[in-house]
Amino acid sequence: MSTFVSRNPANLSDVVTEVPAATSADIVEAARRAKAAQVSWAKMPAPARGRVIANAGRLFEKNKDALSRLVTREMGKVFREAQGDVQEVIDTCDFFLGEGRRLYGQTVPSEMPNKNLFTFRKPIGTALIITAGNFPAAVPSWYIIPALLTGNSIVWKPSEYTPAISKAMTDIFYAAGVPKDVLITVVADGKETFKGLEEGLKQGLINKVGFTGSTEVGRLIGAKVGEYIQSACLELGGKNPMVVMPDANLDLVLDGATFAGFGTAGQRCTSLGTMWLHEDIYDRFLDAYVKRIENEKVGDPMQDVLFGPMIAEKYLDTHEHNLKMVANHHQVHGSTGVGRISASNPRKGFVGDPDAGVFAHPTIVSGIKGGDELYYTETFGPLVGVGKFKTLDEAIELANGHGYGLSSAIYTSDPNSVWRFREGISAGMVSINNSTSGAEAHLPFGGNGKSGNGSRQSGIWVLDQFTSWQSMNWDWSGKLQKAQMDNEEVPHDPNFTI
Ligand code: UN1
Repeated sequence: MSTFVSRNPANLSDVVTEVPAATSADIVEAARRAKAAQVSWAKMPAPARGRVIANAGRLFEKNKDALSRLVTREMGKVFREAQGDVQEVIDTCDFFLGEGRRLYGQTVPSEMPNKNLFTFRKPIGTALIITAGNFPAAVPSWYIIPALLTGNSIVWKPSEYTPAISKAMTDIFYAAGVPKDVLITVVADGKETFKGLEEGLKQGLINKVGFTGSTEVGRLIGAKVGEYIQSACLELGGKNPMVVMPDANLDLVLDGATFAGFGTAGQRCTSLGTMWLHEDIYDRFLDAYVKRIENEKVGDPMQDVLFGPMIAEKYLDTHEHNLKMVANHHQVHGSTGVGRISASNPRKGFVGDPDAGVFAHPTIVSGIKGGDELYYTETFGPLVGVGKFKTLDEAIELANGHGYGLSSAIYTSDPNSVWRFREGISAGMVSINNSTSGAEAHLPFGGNGKSGNGSRQSGIWVLDQFTSWQSMNWDWSGKLQKAQMDNEEVPHDPNFTI
């Protein structure tokens, strides 16, 4: 039997856990059990399910410190950010515990007398939730919590790189009162997951897919579920632009670009892709940004550093591959080297032992132009592109031109630029004088174009992903009243003028 071994990416000799690798048959079996369990879960009154979510929220709060430590240990983000990752789970519980007492339908007037119309939300059934390693707590919770609240059962396939976190979270949900078969967690590789998905769809055991990951895989999943007349909730990649106007507060931009570019080692879906600087401030800001990043601390994620290791070796390999896209017309800045940080390729002021883990130099690539490979490619690592523009229209075109549309930001003190940007940008999320990353847990989260199919997570908007609307009409007139035909016409004078 093959297994997944998860290691602390800041110290590869620290094995966090080893878990059996699930096969496609295991996934189908899990879906079968989840499907059977969904019926009674959906029959439980929604306020009672809301209580279970409330219990989960309290337990996540109680275990916040321990779970955050595990997030840092298994995935590598700095402890402060790991706490944020877990806090987002708590926030999501806070939001949805009350939804158990709302989950509103509508009463709607009928066009006929003695007849009433209603709408109800119905759970979809069993959902396969596939999540990535970069937000191992928050992002799964964005699917799991609303899906449970609305009466669905779940098979959760977390990242192979974060099995200990997903086990801890699953155990918390069980302790909160979620029945064992209503949430089943399986750790599998991509190939087995896709095979399990195909078979589960064929057998009618999977009714919804939630997927956070690459655009490439999202496209395959979207196409596959489309064959079964389903639409997946897809949260895919981004190449999130940050536009800086000449009237911006540059100190604020510096903080925003540092966090957006290098927080979580650039491995957020919302991480900064390319900064577009107005030509009047290009040299001045680039200079300040480079100095700032050169002097930031990188290293042990339990210490006070800007960022820790990459999630795993695979992510470092991708980052090194992306560095090959640096072209002759670009300049590289930000560190004492590029690629992997090691004793022989050191980073000034590194905190800890770089050879123990998978750390990467922060890299700023300036001189980015619209046609560059780096312009089009989501880099998902500590690599920020910087380019120049003359007019806001040009900046908006550059900010949209790669086809991704997840997050975006503009820094300016002119409301006119704010509104023109908001209207012109294709992204699902827009920040004004704020980082591209750091969305709050109760606003719609999601993207357009290559970043997603328009589905949204979080807040009230995600309810449409895990429920379908059922409309009901109740005619109590005692006779057949035909809609559109038996309606009463009000006498009126169509030729009247005053
Ligand atoms: C992600 O990277 O998939 O907005 C989620 C943010 C976080 C969530 C990111 N609240 O950066």
